[in-house]
Amino acid sequence: MTRYLLLLAPSANRVYAGESARLARAELQVSCPRTHGQDVEEVAGLDYLALESDQPVDELARCLAGQSASLALFERTDTDLLRPVQLPRVDLLDDDFVTIPKYQGKTNEQFTRLLLNVTIAALRRPVTGPLDILDPLSGRGTTLETAWTMGHHAYGVEADEKSFEAMAAYLRTWLRRKRLKHTATVSPVRREGRSLGRRFDAELRLDPPLTMTVFTGDTRQSAALFGKKRFDVVVTDAPYGVVHGSQTDVRGHSGKRDRSPAGLLREAIPVWARQLRRGGSLGMSWNTYGLSREDAAAMLSDAGLEVLDGAPWTSFGHRVDSSINRDLIIAVAPL
Ligand SMILES: C[S@@+](CC[C@H](N)C(=O)[O-])C[C@H]1O[C@@H](n2cnc3c(N)ncnc32)[C@H](O)[C@@H]1O
Repeated sequence: MTRYLLLLAPSANRVYAGESARLARAELQVSCPRTHGQDVEEVAGLDYLALESDQPVDELARCLAGQSASLALFERTDTDLLRPVQLPRVDLLDDDFVTIPKYQGKTNEQFTRLLLNVTIAALRRPVTGPLDILDPLSGRGTTLETAWTMGHHAYGVEADEKSFEAMAAYLRTWLRRKRLKHTATVSPVRREGRSLGRRFDAELRLDPPLTMTVFTGDTRQSAALFGKKRFDVVVTDAPYGVVHGSQTDVRGHSGKRDRSPAGLLREAIPVWARQLRRGGSLGMSWNTYGLSREDAAAMLSDAGLEVLDGAPWTSFGHRVDSSINRDLIIAVAPL
């Protein structure tokens, strides 16, 4: 066993109100399972994750490089001196793709990466190439951009037209500015002569090419919008039930006219579950002030998914601010 120290990005502590090391540890346990003895250690005033592994160092470094909070890796020598280990570049796109947009209601980039990592790690299907990842509450696209950055196809649904437009405009500008070969179009969606909204379709000409499709509309219509298409992974940051200006971030009317995130999720989760392929995984973050973990878990299991329980799956709860305590929950579709 070789001993390592993974230096954590200091910015992560701002995201998780000082609890970044705890979350990074849980993320590592889930997504780099061939590491052992993970523990938080402070060395000269900085937070590290101490870990051991018998993996070849290249393989280990590749896994650690994709962790949401990793900054630098060191091997611990017998004399306790630290030997730097190069973390390879695992992302296909520059990180400013995800960090440039700044807006109210944006899901933090680091947290989005963590949610994607943990949800992908829960897949029961083999991962052989780009995955099809759906964010059915896609906002201005943090999950979609992160999915592309990680080399996966991205799909979304968003009810807020302005968010949809801003996302489409930003993607076009960024891809053009970086001189990346791509196509990107916005077109109307019509069925039986009726206008159902709009769709954004983009292709990034990498090898293999990456696709993105986003619909405007209510997430409860996600299955109708995507038709027979199925997804390996559904990842979403649910509305928090907080008010921005004069509006809440929950949109559309539920059957029960319930404007809380709980009402929306109760109706949307069965739709999302049906859009998963066999062995696919669903990861959702939400504000526990509006919905308990038990109730979220019951909604997922009522939809036929198996909720992953026990540590480290239950170790991701953290405070965001006085009105938001965020947790995440992962569930998988039967094989
Ligand atoms: C927490 S935000 C997600 C933000 C996104 N991850 C980002 O970083 O841009 C939740 C999103 O759900 C959208 N939303 C709320 N109710 C919806 C509904 N019924 N159908 C589709 N989208 C909805 C909101 O407009 C908001 O953009």
